[in-house]
Amino acid sequence: DIPSLAETYAEFFPIGAAIEPFQTEGLKAELLKKHVNWLVAENVMKPDAIHPAEDQYNWTNADRIVAFAKENGMELRFHTLVWHTQVGAWFFKDPEGNLMTDETDPAKREANKKLLLERLDRHVRTIVDRYKDDIASWDVVNEVIEPADPDGMRASDWYKIAGADYIATAFRAAREAGGPDIKLYINDYGTDDPKKRDRLYELVKGLLDEGVPIDGVGHQTHIDVYGPSIENIMASMQKFAELGLDNIVTELDMSIYSWNDRRDYGADIPEDILTKQADRYGELFRAFRENKEIVSGVVFWGIADDHSWLDGFPVKRTNAPLLFDRQYQAKPAFWSVIDSLE
Ligand code: G3I
Repeated sequence: DIPSLAETYAEFFPIGAAIEPFQTEGLKAELLKKHVNWLVAENVMKPDAIHPAEDQYNWTNADRIVAFAKENGMELRFHTLVWHTQVGAWFFKDPEGNLMTDETDPAKREANKKLLLERLDRHVRTIVDRYKDDIASWDVVNEVIEPADPDGMRASDWYKIAGADYIATAFRAAREAGGPDIKLYINDYGTDDPKKRDRLYELVKGLLDEGVPIDGVGHQTHIDVYGPSIENIMASMQKFAELGLDNIVTELDMSIYSWNDRRDYGADIPEDILTKQADRYGELFRAFRENKEIVSGVVFWGIADDHSWLDGFPVKRTNAPLLFDRQYQAKPAFWSVIDSLE
């Protein structure tokens, strides 16, 4: 019998996983119950899933994950109130059905912005109100920074219509609806990249100076066996901690390929790659433990290699980014995360 990951790490921080509702049953559920004490919905709490039309909310799938967590004494994260993708197109249409992003008339643009922020405010309050007693940790906005876009702000429909104001609106609504006990995060990928990190820092600092209620930064941490450096990952968390913010690793996985690698190992993953992955996972968790005052939790984006977005992204190829294999057996990476404690 193998040790429980969450129990082994109990003295440091919680260990989580992203799941789909169907994984709350069967062998996957058993694996989760044994190894994690934190859950996040991989898709079913995203805007399009939970709020597909202005007057329609779908709670059923989200509720299944909440119920499973409660039955098993697990904490939850909410992902995500605002995103530029997986969001209903209805948000961005004016009352005549036109795309608000296309509007050029200044007066109409002003009215559209107001309408979008009102919709956002209602969206956030309705969802936070429903889950505030069950979910303590919330991704309020996801992936709003894009260094290549003007101002370094992602040129999403949100931004094109409302400028950066949508971010403050979302955080304020979440705090008002959820009260002081829920924790509110700004979540992004590639936060290890100094350019992106610094733009995010500048944004967050500005918002905090204006009194916008942000509690922490979610670092997705979708990495691969070749990079980025653990030093840069930790430096970013250090920087946000100096602002008084909390840091969570929100979507950890480690691809066995570099981004541009167009090979597919299929079922025959070279052993040295799995060893490389194990060593890097071990080093990463050592760094997290040594900095446990600034890392308050680690959530994997999945739990076993049979279910990962990385099988299809950026190209279709057999990936193996997690600690358990397709048969739910512990990989060398699992043992490295455990053994690095000795
Ligand atoms: O729901 C439809 C279903 O009705 C349809 O039959 C099926 C056919 O392809 O597609 C289903 O939608 C898929 C959805 O996941 C739900 O399963 C989409 O095609 C698929 O693109 C979508 O992928 C998700 C992706 O976000 C979307 O951007 C991944 O599962 C999910 O792991 C991934 O998660 C993101 C985080 O939210 C943010 N950070 C990056 C991370 C990885 O991309």
